[in-house]
Amino acid sequence: MKGSVEKFDFKATRIRKLPPYLFAEIDRMKEEATASGIDVIDLGVGDPDLTPPKAVIETLIHSAQDNDAHHYASYTGLPRLRQAFAGWFETRFGIKVDPDEEVLPLLGSKEGVGHIFLAITDPGDEILVPDPGYPVYTAGAILAGAIPKYFPLRMENGFLPDIDELRSLISPHTKMLWLNYPSNPTTALATMDIFEEIVNLANEHGILVCQDAAYSEIVFDGKKAISLLQAPGAIDVGIEFHSLSKTFCMPGWRVGFAVGNAKAISCLAKVKTNLDSGIFLPVQDAAITALLKCEGDTGKRCRVFENRRSRFVSGLKEIGWDVPLPPATFYIWAPIPGGYDSMGFAAHLLEEAGIVCTPGIGFGKHGEGFVRMSLTMPDDRLEVAIERIKDMQII
Ligand SMILES: Cc1ncc(COP(=O)(O)O)c(C=O)c1O
Repeated sequence: MKGSVEKFDFKATRIRKLPPYLFAEIDRMKEEATASGIDVIDLGVGDPDLTPPKAVIETLIHSAQDNDAHHYASYTGLPRLRQAFAGWFETRFGIKVDPDEEVLPLLGSKEGVGHIFLAITDPGDEILVPDPGYPVYTAGAILAGAIPKYFPLRMENGFLPDIDELRSLISPHTKMLWLNYPSNPTTALATMDIFEEIVNLANEHGILVCQDAAYSEIVFDGKKAISLLQAPGAIDVGIEFHSLSKTFCMPGWRVGFAVGNAKAISCLAKVKTNLDSGIFLPVQDAAITALLKCEGDTGKRCRVFENRRSRFVSGLKEIGWDVPLPPATFYIWAPIPGGYDSMGFAAHLLEEAGIVCTPGIGFGKHGEGFVRMSLTMPDDRLEVAIERIKDMQII
């Protein structure tokens, strides 16, 4: 039985304050195109099409057959999972962390990114958020009653923050600063200089730096992403979020971890003990297999994205769309050719070519002028996409 939507309005003020969903029109157009039989190529979603390593799936199956595997798990994860995270982190970044005090398993990194606001901020606190940036930083702040203050990431700055601009945004109410490198949507990599400057700034003002490293292992051309915790003094002011979703192509499994400042970790753990009941034990076992045994698989998957990136970007260049070669992530952050805003261009691309992309404005005001395209499609589909864009003759 369905009641009248109008009768009661149960909506909390914090829900009203969330930004409007900008992509409703694109979603509607996509549904319409699909329903009318158009072969839609969806380059909108950041959901890897590649499968997780075989050993990970085998561990899950094996572990799920254990009768003891189906109980509530510990809030803070199995000690051997925390040790595996700490071991992976040390091998990868050369930084030793305490698996009990400085590591916290998460139900996917988004869960930690969203909940840390409840752990650290009070209503009215200010949060420095990158623009363009992953929308969850804004949503997390608003749901906790905090106030997002945006700092621009500009192409001419390599999509890195301008430290003077950041400094000018800091007030006595500033509690937290968000970074995301490798960056979604800009694809930029951080430099150690910028991490060091931000850690110094945070130490000066008592601000927690949250660095979202979900794409840390999808980096190309022989480069490696750095960790915020490699910057001297970062452990006093920093926490970093890692994810198995992109690293091991396991987005549906919901596993990630936070690593860094022990106080921040324990506050986040406190929120989590009140809201969730841990990760399914077989998923924890499978995550341990991924972390301890599947480094080579990560590299293989990364090379698939790297090859797609190179082919797609050179294909677009050949037809006259000069998009920068992304150094990391599985996205293309493309300046829009002549005359369109990002919503208009995305609509046009869908109408004329049956291609879905994400309008840059969805990532913030400074995302205007760009669209994001995901490389989570096989080569032959990306080639069809290029042909269709060519036929549009927009470039
Ligand atoms: C920048 C960024 N951070 C975090 C996440 C969340 O990843 P997960 O919750 O799957 O670990 C995403 C997902 O797309 C993302 O783009």
